[in-house]
Amino acid sequence: MTSLLFPGSFDPFTRGHKDIARRAARICDKLYVAVMNNSKKDYTFTLDERVMMAKMILEEYPNIEVLGSDGLLVDIYKNLGCNAVVRGIRSESDFRYEAEMSMANRMLHPEYDVVLLPCRDDLSLISSSIVKEVGRYGGDISAMVPTQIVELVNDRLRKGRN
Ligand code: COA
Repeated sequence: MTSLLFPGSFDPFTRGHKDIARRAARICDKLYVAVMNNSKKDYTFTLDERVMMAKMILEEYPNIEVLGSDGLLVDIYKNLGCNAVVRGIRSESDFRYEAEMSMANRMLHPEYDVVLLPCRDDLSLISSSIVKEVGRYGGDISAMVPTQIVELVNDRLRKGRN
């Protein structure tokens, strides 16, 4: 059985993330989506909220399981016995970031490997920061985040302004 691991901050999950998860789930038997923390980021949504949103969005895919972890990526990779990590690539700068991250992770665990999927052109300029910027100023985020979480994300972003 091949299993892949798709980690990210998902603060919040975007349509771009959903597209990567959908495509990754087609090339393996089991896809784990791991909602994690990046120590350089301040989050708008708690880890539990991000896990809950990812579950709402991905429940239609029977071979996807969502989990949350505040630990190291290589630890869940080893514990779950995954064949590789999956990441979406939007640009050259994403590629450089992924190359650095995979090098660091391979130093921690030599069996670590990564599959990089190019993002769909029409989704390649979306990021969680752009969603938050647009939403905070009352803009329409429905083309950027999956339908299931539009209201929830809007509520949080608009409250943040008061
Ligand atoms: N569509 C839309 N946006 C995308 C995307 C896609 N397909 N792929 C990436 N992005 C965006 C995200 O929205 C995010 O935008 P933001 O910076 O505006 O928030 C950005 O690209 C990168 O985010 P993400 O892919 O979630 O990565 P990250 O850098 O926030 O976190 C972790 C990466 C969580 C996997 C990493 O920090 C980690 O492994 N943490 C655990 C601790 C650890 O092991 N650290 C050692 C790592 S060497």
